Amino acid sequence: MDWGMKNRLSRIIKKDGHTVMLAVDHGYFMGPTTGLEKLDETVKPLLPYADVLMPTRGALRNYIPPETDIPICLRVSGGTSILNETNLLHEGIVCSIEDAIRLNVSAVAFSILVGQPFERDTILGFTQIIDEANRYGIPVLAVTAVGRGLGKDAKYLSLASRMAAELGASMVKTYYCKDFEKVVETCPVPIVIAGGKKIPEKDALEMAYNALQAGAIGVDMGRNIFQSTDPVGMIKAVNAVVHKKYTPKEAYELFKSNKKT
Ligand code: R5P
Repeated sequence: MDWGMKNRLSRIIKKDGHTVMLAVDHGYFMGPTTGLEKLDETVKPLLPYADVLMPTRGALRNYIPPETDIPICLRVSGGTSILNETNLLHEGIVCSIEDAIRLNVSAVAFSILVGQPFERDTILGFTQIIDEANRYGIPVLAVTAVGRGLGKDAKYLSLASRMAAELGASMVKTYYCKDFEKVVETCPVPIVIAGGKKIPEKDALEMAYNALQAGAIGVDMGRNIFQSTDPVGMIKAVNAVVHKKYTPKEAYELFKSNKKT
């Protein structure tokens, strides 16, 4: 692995081997989703507690000041919207590697939809972006977005995550599930978990904790932070679970105490 790739990965995965990635790329297929209506106002107070920001190129250019000092993992796959029920997440390349380089990113993110009828399209697009990104020492985060009607069990997530790694991903983002250690054990690259739909903060913190215990290196969480009743309190609590080994109880107390400050 070239110095450049190692340097970029060191910006994503901190010295303790863990990372808190703040996912705010939802607009590429969900538009102004709840909590991201004014993305700049939402994100600004959260940045001090995030290690990485995961936006789209349009969000980066229109909402994030260029002097912002945080590594970027850029969403580069897309092509459908939430209105496209039958073909949701049938994604291809929507941002060139040249534009990603122009944006000085530390990594790019691409979704593969293993098990969907259009899986091949997403996988071929994924490997094309890997070839282009790796040419410039840019790591690729595979997003094994779970397609509709596909299980979120360890068997499926292990299949999707291992495929992503075998195809060349430097990191994988997947979802937490029961027996998650089986997903980690069969994946040769670091795994972070997405938060998924908004759930009670206490449950989201427990999920993050359990994922870390099972071997995930961190989270790439969005809705469970920016749709929280207290987004700053929530990202502080998630950061404490990931980097300070807080238990879910301790982290939830931290979340609740933030509201009082
Ligand atoms: C949606 O597919 C986006 O890629 C998000 O980055 C991903 O789902 C993580 O965000 P959340 O924690 O809201 O699921």
